[in-house]
Amino acid sequence: MNWTREKLIEAYIDFFKKKRHKEIPNVSLIPREDPTVLFTTAGMHPLILFLLGQKHPLGKRLVNNQKCIRTTDIEEVGDENHLTFFEMLGNWSLGDYWKKEAIEFSFEFLTKILKIPKQKLTITCFKGDFKNHIPKDTESAKIWQKLGIKKSQIRFLGKEENWWGPAGKTGPCGPDTEMFFQGSEIWNDVFMQYNKDKQGRYKELSQKNVDTGMGVERTLAVLQGKKSVYETL
Ligand code: SER
Repeated sequence: MNWTREKLIEAYIDFFKKKRHKEIPNVSLIPREDPTVLFTTAGMHPLILFLLGQKHPLGKRLVNNQKCIRTTDIEEVGDENHLTFFEMLGNWSLGDYWKKEAIEFSFEFLTKILKIPKQKLTITCFKGDFKNHIPKDTESAKIWQKLGIKKSQIRFLGKEENWWGPAGKTGPCGPDTEMFFQGSEIWNDVFMQYNKDKQGRYKELSQKNVDTGMGVERTLAVLQGKKSVYETL
């Protein structure tokens, strides 16, 4: 398959529609629903109320492709895999499926649809934050291993690497498991089960959510055999 941006996006959306996800549209780069950020930095911003427990009109399984602006990586922008503006594919579970299904979906899409050999993937999982009583994520690592990822392909990392959010000072967040191809992170599955409050405390959310983010340009670089996201077609 000669992968293009359009084909990758279509394959992703179709794959998750077959897994009973409903597609939601791309929203403005100026977030309307989330006052904690100046720009839409991820697909989660339009979903913030639903991650916090409000019922989404389209149900508990959603899929989208969201255009994002990120300035936190500004020092790295211009290297082989950082951009200020990019597109991110995401599948969402709003209190529906959890780690097993999320990781199985990721694995199936990467190896069966994109046909990336499983031995070429490297996986990271959260090593735990004992100060805040957040455990090591051995559950995710075991799921990966069951799917055929070797122990030697999995690393446990800390909050700097394997924790996502909140995007602003407060809001939904949680540990994640990340998928790498030759050192470039192409996808993460975030297990949003906490809400960080103004005092910096992590409270369990009323529902456990999955928020994933696949970088379109980075994945395209892998599929097109390019060294840099800036070379993708
Ligand atoms: N999965 C998202 C990201 O990587 C978090 O919303 O940014």
